[in-house]
Amino acid sequence: MCGIFSVTGSHKKAGNKVLSGLKKLEYRGYDSWGIAVQTAKGVVVQKDTGKISEVHLDLPEGSKAIGHTRWATHGGVTKANSHPHRVGKVTLVHNGIFENYAEEKARLVDHNFQSDTDTEVIAVLLSQAIEEGLDIKSAIRFVTQKIQGRFSILVMIDDQPGIWAARKGSPLIVGRGENETFIASDIPAFLEQTNKVNYLDDDELVFVDQGTANFFDLNTGKAITKREITVSWKVEESKKGNYAHFMIKEIFDQKETIAKAINHDNQAIADFVKALKSSNGVYMVACGTANKACMVAEYFFAQISGRKVNVVSASEMPYFEQFVNDRTALVAVSQSGETADVLEILERGKKSGAKILAMTNVESSSIARLADVHLPIQAGPEKAVASTKATTAQIALLLLCAYADSSTVNDFEKCLNRGRNILRSTAGNINDLLNPRYESYVKAVAEKIVQHDNLFIIGRGALYPIALEAAIKIQEVSYIHAQGFPAGEIKHGPIALIEAGTPCLVLGNDTEIIANATELKSRGAMIIGIADKDHELFDEWLKAPNCEEGQAIATLIPVQILSYHLAILRGLNPDMPRNLAKSVTVK
Ligand code: F6R
Repeated sequence: MCGIFSVTGSHKKAGNKVLSGLKKLEYRGYDSWGIAVQTAKGVVVQKDTGKISEVHLDLPEGSKAIGHTRWATHGGVTKANSHPHRVGKVTLVHNGIFENYAEEKARLVDHNFQSDTDTEVIAVLLSQAIEEGLDIKSAIRFVTQKIQGRFSILVMIDDQPGIWAARKGSPLIVGRGENETFIASDIPAFLEQTNKVNYLDDDELVFVDQGTANFFDLNTGKAITKREITVSWKVEESKKGNYAHFMIKEIFDQKETIAKAINHDNQAIADFVKALKSSNGVYMVACGTANKACMVAEYFFAQISGRKVNVVSASEMPYFEQFVNDRTALVAVSQSGETADVLEILERGKKSGAKILAMTNVESSSIARLADVHLPIQAGPEKAVASTKATTAQIALLLLCAYADSSTVNDFEKCLNRGRNILRSTAGNINDLLNPRYESYVKAVAEKIVQHDNLFIIGRGALYPIALEAAIKIQEVSYIHAQGFPAGEIKHGPIALIEAGTPCLVLGNDTEIIANATELKSRGAMIIGIADKDHELFDEWLKAPNCEEGQAIATLIPVQILSYHLAILRGLNPDMPRNLAKSVTVK
């Protein structure tokens, strides 16, 4: 949440470069934006509410600039609350939460605050520390010690060279260009200029000026050395190409991502499974859609390898932490690898001696670096807020892990290959769905239900979590009230919500679920079946080819396309749903 970006170079275009880089971080927050440029005549700040993608400005010349695209946490969406914040000689942008800001603010009675943000409190504290005589590095170290919570900051000081940045919990990456240096919350901001990076870790500080970067330990102030890494992301992967939105592009990317999942490294899966086998209790922790992928895996492990795993929303895991010890395997699944609720559980679990296993799509994310064993999801950059290709790639990888987990001493490869064969046929089958003809068929169904305000989804077994995931997808991009249920549960309450014409998605066509669909239909529901074959009970049918355990993946494809078209038909931008952000780095 919130994207921050800075440029310092030997040229004079830092402001415009920050503007174009921030547009690539817009998925992290799109309430408001702001940029500060150090010009020959002083610092010039431009900021406003609204989306950074809609900003077309020629910023004044200057060799350094910092910027921010906001997802509001403290204070409403107003121009005054947007970053950067300027106090005295300090210009600052911030990603994260200063949890104890109210206590610090209460002590700053002499300051006339211009905003309701926690960020302005950091700027005031920093300005005071510098005025009281601390050098910039010491001032940043002094002030960041006071901050409780996860954050990253970028700081420019009037009349002083370079830009400073500090990290405690929220991502920051330094991009090393030719005579220019970038610092960003995520790589796409500067990927057109460089793919050479240094990852800042927690409790680290960096000073960058033109082409140089000097790193320090935030606690001791001592200089540290950071490894330079060349990232393999391609610029084109982060672009929409000919698609109208990232969401539909990423849905179609699944042609390749599922096929690619077959190539996951044997050794990494073996390490993962070895840790599961040597544990005495497995907890899978994740949020939102990633949590639904874990719920699908709960069925995989139960049915394929006979293992009971406990799937808990990361935000609820604190109530079960007494069961985490040095025999526990904590499995985190996360697209971004930065989700604050997940990170906190892992950090505490690590202290209790638990083995940390992680699957993340962003390979160098905080969660990936914390893990004892990391399996990269390998879906490529996912920019739309609604997760699609990362979700199916997570499910594919978890399926392979469940098959690998079913192995005994000598048949690891054989078991893993069973999983691979299922994914091979799933990849072939979904390829038949990802074409314009099928898309227009799904769109026609969307047109029939778009005017409804309520929609229900039922599934059984591994398709029950897919019903929950379908609800998330539909809610977040179309704002239709959608709810998923285990099919057998509807008659224990939810059926009271059914009225004549209420659309219900029925995932599957086996005898049990058809019995539940019949109960809905007799109360007037409009039944949209998502299954390999049509059924006389279905008012509409969306084909999801039979893929054995790959059915969870195959069923998600029509659900994702349907959600996308419901959003489009309602005149909404599915890439930027209201109130949401791609990477949830606050609790
Ligand atoms: C919904 C969605 C979210 C994320 C959740 C966790 O489409 O994408 O529910 O799944 O915020 O994010 P990650 O996977 O980055 O930990």
